[in-house]
Amino acid sequence: MLKNTLVLFLISIGLLSCTEKDINELKIIPLPQQVEQLEGEFEITKETQLYVSDSSLNSIAQILIDKIESTSQFKLAISKKYPEKDYVAFVIDSNIDSEEKGYFLEVNSTGAQIKAKTAEGVFYGMQTLLQLLPAEVESQKFVQHMKWIVPSVKIKDAPRFKWRGMHLDVCRHFIPVENIKKHLDMMAMVKLNTFHWHLTEDQGWRIEIKQYPKLTEIGSKRIEGEGYEYGGFYTQDEIKEIVAYAAERFITVVPEIELPGHALAALTAYPEYSCTGGPFKVRNVWGVEPDVYCAGKEETFAFLENIINEVVELFPSPYFHIGGDECPKDKWKECALCQKRINAEGLKDEHELQSYFVKRIEKILLKHGKKMIGWDEILEGGLAESAAVMSWRGEEGGIEAANQGHDVVMTPGNWCYLDHYQGDNRVEPVAIGGYTSLEEVYGYDPVPKDIAEDKKHHILGAQGNVWTEYMYTPELAEYRVYPRIIALAEVNWSAKEQRNYDSFLLRLDNLHQRMDMHDINYHIPLPEGPVDKMVFTDNIKVEFSNTRDLDMVYTTNGSDPQVHSNVYMKPLIFADSKTIKIATVLKTGKMSRVRAIHLEKTNYVQAVEPESTDSGLVEKYTKGYFLNTEELDSIVSWDESINLMKPVKGYKRDGHDEAYASVFTGYIEVPEDGIYEFASNLDQFFIAGELLIDNNGEVKRFSRNNSTIALRKGKHPVKLVYLNNIMGGWPQAWNGPKVQFRLWGEKEFITASGEIYSH
Ligand code: ACM
Ligand code: ZN
Repeated sequence: MLKNTLVLFLISIGLLSCTEKDINELKIIPLPQQVEQLEGEFEITKETQLYVSDSSLNSIAQILIDKIESTSQFKLAISKKYPEKDYVAFVIDSNIDSEEKGYFLEVNSTGAQIKAKTAEGVFYGMQTLLQLLPAEVESQKFVQHMKWIVPSVKIKDAPRFKWRGMHLDVCRHFIPVENIKKHLDMMAMVKLNTFHWHLTEDQGWRIEIKQYPKLTEIGSKRIEGEGYEYGGFYTQDEIKEIVAYAAERFITVVPEIELPGHALAALTAYPEYSCTGGPFKVRNVWGVEPDVYCAGKEETFAFLENIINEVVELFPSPYFHIGGDECPKDKWKECALCQKRINAEGLKDEHELQSYFVKRIEKILLKHGKKMIGWDEILEGGLAESAAVMSWRGEEGGIEAANQGHDVVMTPGNWCYLDHYQGDNRVEPVAIGGYTSLEEVYGYDPVPKDIAEDKKHHILGAQGNVWTEYMYTPELAEYRVYPRIIALAEVNWSAKEQRNYDSFLLRLDNLHQRMDMHDINYHIPLPEGPVDKMVFTDNIKVEFSNTRDLDMVYTTNGSDPQVHSNVYMKPLIFADSKTIKIATVLKTGKMSRVRAIHLEKTNYVQAVEPESTDSGLVEKYTKGYFLNTEELDSIVSWDESINLMKPVKGYKRDGHDEAYASVFTGYIEVPEDGIYEFASNLDQFFIAGELLIDNNGEVKRFSRNNSTIALRKGKHPVKLVYLNNIMGGWPQAWNGPKVQFRLWGEKEFITASGEIYSH
């Protein structure tokens, strides 16, 4: 923030170069190579004519005509010859001093001209021109009283990388055609050019294959832990529609058909291509499925070849993604046919069997003239000769592959996984985990230092990966994708030396407005700090921050804050119970979700002195599958035992997989008087008779309903209610029942177990 102010100050007293000032004023993302702002402007009116030098530019021209017409009701007339004034001109000229995909944009009072060597270059020039127009040009409907003014500029531009990608998993959660088009529109706006479409998974097969109709009839549907059917797939006609829509925007769609693992949906439909023969159910929990394609059966390869034959017809992309990640080898180890294959082919182990599998698929793809790309596990057991590698488990796979002379797309988790949290997990919607802020994405450099100088050209670019386990709706997917993918667009397009995060944030508001026009549910940092219920005994100081140092506005009278409400400046101190309602505001005036923080003045809860001091809690349990704690009210017969509440992964009561519910009772001991914050993945957590945490109906991957209570040192009665079920694809058994606490303001949580509990 300080830096931004400094930049603005330096600009205002004229100390910064013209270019830097222009860049921030013009608010173009991604940042062009060279920008020079000139005196004057050009206005698009109903007299403006559109000139195109070449019929190959007609479809680009049509995009501009449609946009201008729908927002201004001016229909730009096409001019056969270069107009003398009042024009937008698209010119292809192979003699200009530009890179193949670059462009020149020159705007002055007579008109706007885009010159490039290729239609693609012209398209990018047009995107820059659109960003120079008022954001309302992106409106989906007529905008009244708008002057369509473009400032006079000279811009020279070209991309840094060839593969400027976004990946989308439509299997864990389905994304309808209309929402895919929204993403493609946004990708085009920021000059992204590769859409990696993850179409098959353990949890769903989403592409129609005519020869194998059961792939979608059976494989596209799963029964969720909540009991309902979830499904969806694209017909081949819809696939063609998306591919064509993308092509009009110079976006290549790369299909991904996962193999040899992540294939349970296909194997549910056709179990004969597994090692065991099934039967299977389409997976309804996240994670990695042990049942994979059998590498010993010839029929598996025929099946996959037939599928590939249909898929390649739908996708003109030179690349074909075969997955290759996370393929457990357990079934292959036990399968006679897989073992026979290992012997017959003289393979060392199952990793070489994976390599054998991938190399056979490579041959099929080469017959179609396709380049194979896969996740970095395809390096295991030897990389196929023509393969390109997508580096996701860090950068190492990419470095190794590039140093071996293979092309690489960088998608390392720390910077490129857009399913990670981008704020405090106590206030953000549940996510898979991790933490990757906008600034971290922006700071990524796709060319790792450890790549030999003469191998650096093998880095094709970077890609944002969007795994949708915890994106239950298309809107939640947008929330995770934007604006982080916009940061990655600049990483991919603009020179490293030119990039500057503060400048990016200044320019981002232009994109915020455009995303509003496209009804994109982008992330706005939330006020962080307090949890929703904050108790205190005397007075309380509440402190807020957000991940981008944006303004926050608040009220204390119960009303929702508005843009002009009090701006949060410094910690607030209260001596009485109050509700603070607070939201973050962008410079555009758009506000985040409002958080309500209940400040409650209370007394310390006195400790109790129970007779027994044995460790652990009393666990009452009952078999059965329950989705809501209320369902337990009618249970009369319970079994009982003592549970030390040791934290375990893959928790199983008595070693059984059966569904059940448990109610734990006893005491928890806290070490001193204080305000304690509790966190729990349990369905309910009661302490001193109060329901402190109620997670009924939530996905209990992490605690989100942390709460506070004032406790005297000593023991306090607790009740923990735990439903061993699957909600939102998360099986409770993966974490087991867990309660954590800390004194308010401390960093580390203590996990309650053993001696901390007694009964
Ligand atoms: C991956 O994230 N499993 C490629
Ligand atoms: Zn097998």
